Amino acid sequence: MMNNRKALVTGGAGFIGSNVVRYLLNKDWEVRIIDNLSSGYKENLDGLNVDFIESDINDAKITHDACKGIDVVFHLAACVGRQKSLDDPILDSSTNVMGTIQLLEGMRKHGVKRIVYSSSAAIFGELETQSIAEDHPQNADSPYGVSKLAAEKMILAYCGIYEMTGVCLRYFNIYGVNQRYDFYGNVIPIFANRIFSGNPVTIYGDGDQTRDFVNVKDVAIANYLAATADVGTGVYNLGSGESITINKLADIMQELTGINTEKRYELQRPADVRHCKADTNKANNELGFKASISLVEGLKEYIEWFNDNK
Ligand SMILES: NC(=O)c1ccc[n+]([C@@H]2O[C@H](COP(=O)([O-])OP(=O)(O)OC[C@H]3O[C@@H](n4cnc5c(N)ncnc54)[C@H](O)[C@@H]3O)[C@@H](O)[C@H]2O)c1
Repeated sequence: MMNNRKALVTGGAGFIGSNVVRYLLNKDWEVRIIDNLSSGYKENLDGLNVDFIESDINDAKITHDACKGIDVVFHLAACVGRQKSLDDPILDSSTNVMGTIQLLEGMRKHGVKRIVYSSSAAIFGELETQSIAEDHPQNADSPYGVSKLAAEKMILAYCGIYEMTGVCLRYFNIYGVNQRYDFYGNVIPIFANRIFSGNPVTIYGDGDQTRDFVNVKDVAIANYLAATADVGTGVYNLGSGESITINKLADIMQELTGINTEKRYELQRPADVRHCKADTNKANNELGFKASISLVEGLKEYIEWFNDNK
């Protein structure tokens, strides 16, 4: 019998990480997690058979030891988001840059051959085209964008120097089960929170700006494909390849909840881009990835989950 493959998932208790863990377990992988629970939740892993290590990825000994016997590292642990990085740029870089180096050193020491990295469209900064391909200029304009880009470059450099390969997935807007509402939240949990509490949804600008939302279950599949596809080192933009206006998003969420709260329009925020969509051709051609969950279907599941967990 073939031995099960072994994964180390950093940030495995987080929103996306916990969905990746669940998918890997369904594929009969053995899963070890390192997470310091700074923004993740142990409850996200309830009932799952995993080896959970509560630790900071910057703890060299624990991180290096955790790499022992691992086939693929899925690296999701990070200080996440533009605003958080503006509030604490030191924590942002020490987690996202130094933490990534610590992990790469562990991989090198223990001969781990593959890493799948959760990168971000934030590495592009201000967007210059509507559909964003991999070669879009990289003008990261926040500490977060810079640290995610630095980590990506560090992984590519290690893969060039040492015997390992790395696939960097640059996520656009991800939503779905286990995405909680919090101070740094994304638009979908924020809208869900406003709608369920009977408050108006706040829209910045005229609401006709567009975004590409991809369901976290599709992202979990993308991670698996990135680990197993017959490709070497590379970077891939990851979204649904479709976009929707913020007005339409609010309409769908109100329709699905059956709660119609007011839409309140406020001044457009300076850093907000008008249109944004991932060009997913490369991920499709080389990894075999295609988002399969429609926004309405995914939002329906999310709203049920949010209602049960709010
Ligand atoms: N959510 C999105 O739309 C999105 C978009 C682009 C990229 N990403 C990337 O995806 C990854 C996962 O993001 P998420 O949305 O699930 O966020 P999240 O905050 O839910 O997950 C991050 C996890 O990392 C853990 N963590 C943070 N610092 C750590 C440290 N020093 N040591 C160990 N664990 C640590 C947290 O406790 C948490 O469980 C991140 O790398 C993020 O940059 C997310």
